Amino acid sequence: MSKRLYIETVGCQMNMLDSEMVVASLRKKGYELTNDVLAADVVLFNTCSVRQHAEDKIYSALGRLRRHKEEHPETVVGVLGCMAQKDQAIIFERAPYVDLIVGPGQLQQTPELIEQARAGVQRQSALSLGRREAPLEQIKRSHETFDPLRDPTMRSSPYQAYVRIQIGCDKFCTYCIVPSVRGPEQGRPPADILAETRVLAEQGCVEIILVGQTVNSYRYVEGGKSTRLSELLHMLHDVEGIERLKFVTNYPNDMTDDLLHAVQDLPKCSPYFHVPLQSGSDRILQRMKRGYTVDDYRNMLRRIREIVPDAAVASDFIVGFCGETEEDFQQSVALVEECRFKNSFIFKYSERTGTKGAELFADDVPYDVKQRRNNELLAVQNKICIEEHQAFLGRTVEVLVEGPSKTAVKQAKADGPLSQMAGRTHCDRIVVFDGNLRQAGHILPVTIYDASSHTLFGSVVTEHRGPEQPLIELSIGSGGAQK
Ligand code: SAH
Ligand code: SF4
Ligand code: F3S
Repeated sequence: MSKRLYIETVGCQMNMLDSEMVVASLRKKGYELTNDVLAADVVLFNTCSVRQHAEDKIYSALGRLRRHKEEHPETVVGVLGCMAQKDQAIIFERAPYVDLIVGPGQLQQTPELIEQARAGVQRQSALSLGRREAPLEQIKRSHETFDPLRDPTMRSSPYQAYVRIQIGCDKFCTYCIVPSVRGPEQGRPPADILAETRVLAEQGCVEIILVGQTVNSYRYVEGGKSTRLSELLHMLHDVEGIERLKFVTNYPNDMTDDLLHAVQDLPKCSPYFHVPLQSGSDRILQRMKRGYTVDDYRNMLRRIREIVPDAAVASDFIVGFCGETEEDFQQSVALVEECRFKNSFIFKYSERTGTKGAELFADDVPYDVKQRRNNELLAVQNKICIEEHQAFLGRTVEVLVEGPSKTAVKQAKADGPLSQMAGRTHCDRIVVFDGNLRQAGHILPVTIYDASSHTLFGSVVTEHRGPEQPLIELSIGSGGAQK
């Protein structure tokens, strides 16, 4: 039986990681990836429910498959992930030809369900328990973390990998569907995380990005011993071959001093914190049930800057949340100006059925107002990005080279060899420079000569090699790119 797999993924890093795991487990069963959905024997969508737009995208993709599935009923179509958990009945109703529905806490069942679907079993589903359907321990057990052995060929970069340290979320921000679909917060055992990181290092991975919905709330208790993120970072820091450690996404209230000191003291930890503020208005923060005030956030930011002076801080904002007045919004603008974030992800509020926000408040900000506020906040943030980037001109930064830049990939297809490579600084800024593929996976000094709001442009430093110095290859093998 032919085994061609097509998979499309939307959503956050957690979903990227889930897809990597699903693909790896299917490869073990002999599946090969294809980019051609019409040539696939199995078509999977790994879905997101965080905003309506993410769901619409998947329904459109499913709609485009309808004819093909009618003509080729043997093609297996599966819907995985957060939307599967949230909307199983609706999916079967809107796309009755879907063969399997698998929630994010049941992904380990995917290969088996596919096998059964190919044997003719129809309309299967594997879902976790809802948050009010059973006692907590039972719900927790129904959300299983899916972290099988890592397959290096499955990552978009062989040098970087996400490592899950936590599943679920217990914060219940009123706008957010994640706690319903991803279940209760649960930390993974530190020993498992360490073992996985060692495997990744042996596979040539240089950078590890620890992921959790509120990653800095991480806690694992066993035999009376409790492990926090700061301690986990100390453990992972000793893994040979790993050069950089990052963690996303942080919750403002859980940014404890021990964590900040760990980042400052451990050279492999990136001085980078993605810690969403969401709104600059106390009234809106309270409606969102974020659990902090603007002043609390300011204090947290002050501690970050005191303990980790070089830190870059990134944020998320929601504009047009229920009841957001122009004055509330202007407070978000003021906070973006005050906090000088490295970057901010800005989202228009999208009401999610099943959240407290949908139940309690009217989605009363018109779409065009949301759109205007989104553009305005983005413009303010972009101006700050450019100003912050100007400070890098003439400076030399250490860049972990990830691969060809996106534009270089496009050009390469059009007119010949690659020239532009892209990577990131320790504090997560994107750097593009002239180079070649052999530099990927290495950390190189790059001097910055130009900047846009989201990218620094530079040249690899070559002049450090005086004749009196031994020729130290900048870890790029002989015939390196600088020549
Ligand atoms: N766990 C992370 C990210 C959650 S989802 C955290 O807590 O920071 C990523 C972002 O999507 C959130 O930070 C928020 O800004 C946005 N978001 C979540 N629900 C949303 C909704 N209903 N409408 C618009 N944006 C939303
Ligand atoms: Fe959603 Fe809030 Fe949890 Fe983040 S902390 S995943 S925004 S409920
Ligand atoms: Fe979306 Fe689920 Fe992530 S809802 S943002 S894919 S946790």
